[in-house]
Amino acid sequence: MSARELFTFRNTYFSIGVGVAAGVFALAAITGFVLLPRLQPELKYADLWDAFCSAAGLPRRSVSSGEIPKSPHRLSEAVLTPTTLARPTQESIGRGATLAQRCAICHGPTGISRADSPNLAGQYASVIYKELLDFRSGARTNAVMSPFAANLSDQDIKDLAAYYAYLPRLPAYHPQEQLPRPRVVIYGAPMRGIAPCGSCHGSLDNKAGSPWLEGQSEAYLKAQLQAFAAGQRTNDISQQMRNVARALTSQEIDQAAAYYASQPPDIIKTTD
Ligand code: HEC
Ligand code: HEC
Repeated sequence: MSARELFTFRNTYFSIGVGVAAGVFALAAITGFVLLPRLQPELKYADLWDAFCSAAGLPRRSVSSGEIPKSPHRLSEAVLTPTTLARPTQESIGRGATLAQRCAICHGPTGISRADSPNLAGQYASVIYKELLDFRSGARTNAVMSPFAANLSDQDIKDLAAYYAYLPRLPAYHPQEQLPRPRVVIYGAPMRGIAPCGSCHGSLDNKAGSPWLEGQSEAYLKAQLQAFAAGQRTNDISQQMRNVARALTSQEIDQAAAYYASQPPDIIKTTD
């Protein structure tokens, strides 16, 4: 059979080959340009052409009337720098102590909770500050906690942050055997884009705004990781924590929560 006969549609194999290739091409185009863009709920497309352009990496016309698509959630408006609240005055710490009396029922008189509320003693000041701003603005919500942040002034929030950061980290109330560090905490999961937890959370390095986790209750840690993964907690700036939590398996969430809960308080703080 000469080459000319091979490449004609009279050759069944050639026809099948071309047919299959065209089919795969069409399927890939529909999946890539139509289906996948449409499956992303946070992106709204004006029409089919808009979805096409987005998939091809071209600038999109925005939703129908040209307004910027709004996120369904309120985002954090807090601005943090490594020096946020770095040098509190004694007066600020004192005012914070007075204000903190109304928080003691849940967060404990020494900032260590007897229940499953987070411990605040020795937490980074920037974290207390940011979380309170977020509860106040509604960027983070919790039926129990939100009402207590609603009426705080900016100065109250700074003073409370200064006070709790000043308190020593004490052992938590839920003693348990210290667990070995799970893989995901030591190494993260590079293939899934997860950095080691400690690279943000303190044991290796502290990124401004990442809370100290050691000694928090297991139930609290697990609930936060699940809330980030499910997109119910959305106050992390640039989705730093949601990206991590979404990529974790439920087993890794359990292990990380149990591990951090079992850790003693660290006397030496890395930064503040
Ligand atoms: C009635 C109980 C209760 C009271 C009173 C209360 N809190 Fe809370 N607080 C909670 C709970 C529960 C959470 C965890 C919320 C969640 O699961 O998202 C929390 C979370 C926080 C956090 C976030 C900690 C973190 O690591 O992310 C801060 C900061 C905080 N509270 C500060 C305060 C301050 C300051 C006061 C007093 C003005 C106060 N709370 C009063 C129950 C309470
Ligand atoms: C890229 C940095 C980064 C990495 C890596 C990271 N986190 Fe976070 N995480 C954050 C930030 C930032 C926040 C605070 C979000 C906010 O409220 O602004 C946070 C919040 C949390 C909270 C909620 C704590 C609280 O009291 O509010 C938990 C629990 C947590 N991270 C667990 C983990 C675990 C477990 C890992 C490792 C598997 C991890 N994180 C890896 C940046 C990171």
